[in-house]
Amino acid sequence: MSKSDKPILRALHGESSRRPPFWLMRQAGRYLPEYRALRQKAGGFLDLCYAPELAAEVTLQPIRRFGMDAAILFADILLVPQAMGQKLWFAEGEGPRLEPIRTRVEAESLNLDGMAGRLAPVYQAASLVAAALPEKTALIGFAGAPWTVATYMVEGGSSRDYANVKEWAFGDPAGFGVLIDRLVEATAAHLSAQLDAGAEVVQIFDTWASAVGPEHFDRLVIEPTRRIVERVRRNHNDALVIGFPRGIGELYPRYFAETGVDGIGIDAGMAPSLAARNLQPHGTVQGNLDPRVLVAGGEAMEKAVAAILAALSNGPFIFNLGHGVVPETPVDHVVRLTELLRTA
Ligand code: CP3
Repeated sequence: MSKSDKPILRALHGESSRRPPFWLMRQAGRYLPEYRALRQKAGGFLDLCYAPELAAEVTLQPIRRFGMDAAILFADILLVPQAMGQKLWFAEGEGPRLEPIRTRVEAESLNLDGMAGRLAPVYQAASLVAAALPEKTALIGFAGAPWTVATYMVEGGSSRDYANVKEWAFGDPAGFGVLIDRLVEATAAHLSAQLDAGAEVVQIFDTWASAVGPEHFDRLVIEPTRRIVERVRRNHNDALVIGFPRGIGELYPRYFAETGVDGIGIDAGMAPSLAARNLQPHGTVQGNLDPRVLVAGGEAMEKAVAAILAALSNGPFIFNLGHGVVPETPVDHVVRLTELLRTA
């Protein structure tokens, strides 16, 4: 079978289908008992990311249970700054922590040379998964977009107001540009390496794109992403790329047209009918069930899924959530979701 017989790849090439393919952001993770067991065995989250056999196993767990049309490689967007030399750790129950970088000199000291070696276990995991997947299931690699990764690098973890990163980005555009440039280079290399290892699609997560604002959007969101897509396609001219600039509202069409991505992930805040009208004419749409509707299940979920399918399955479409699966999600609700999608 040729690669492009996989439903996700066909959708990204612009084909529509009455029963659209699906996968779920964060489909591997704490809502699955088998994930929790393996994570405990590995020690910590980062230990899991750097153990190729275990990371491959965790990637495959949701595929075995639910049969999604794509697997997403188990890793994290913050492995890239770590591979460039920034200290990263996950404090139990607190999320990610990094030793903050806030000056041009610190940005200049980020080191791209050792990156490929440090991330080799991630690429090994990708090869293991690629060899083990069912023949119609695609492998998706990913990275964080420069802006989103920079928020963690500068704030030292998750942030409520992005005070430090905005002060730097708005007050010293040239200095902050050094950080963005390093991230463009590192991210393009990381995505290319995942494609070399067997990934067939890459997704760029710009989870905090909505914090930027229209005035700085070109410089901080569109341009860095466009440059990454261009660089990735220098090595892989047929690379399929999905952008996920979460929460950008009316800037979605411009992001889609100007970055060159093949597919666009929309968050749960966008009406599916609006996405059908404004985005599908330009390419493939992916989304956008609210992860909390998946937690609620029942009639709320049945109705929301029906509305999304009615609006979007006439054009190129990949069903997904509007953001990642949350740990409280009942496994039974994911089972029901897969039934709804298979009988659509
Ligand atoms: O299944 C998949 O989608 C693949 C794996 C994946 C993870 N993180 C695993 C993970 C992916 C694609 C990511 C992306 C990621 N990581 C993003 C962008 C997407 C998004 O969700 O907004 C961001 C912002 C991060 C950074 C990050 N990693 C945070 C903020 C956290 C803590 C929050 C949390 O859920 O605990 C992580 C940890 C993380 N990444 C976990 C997993 C499964 C939980 C770790 C654990 O305790 O086991």
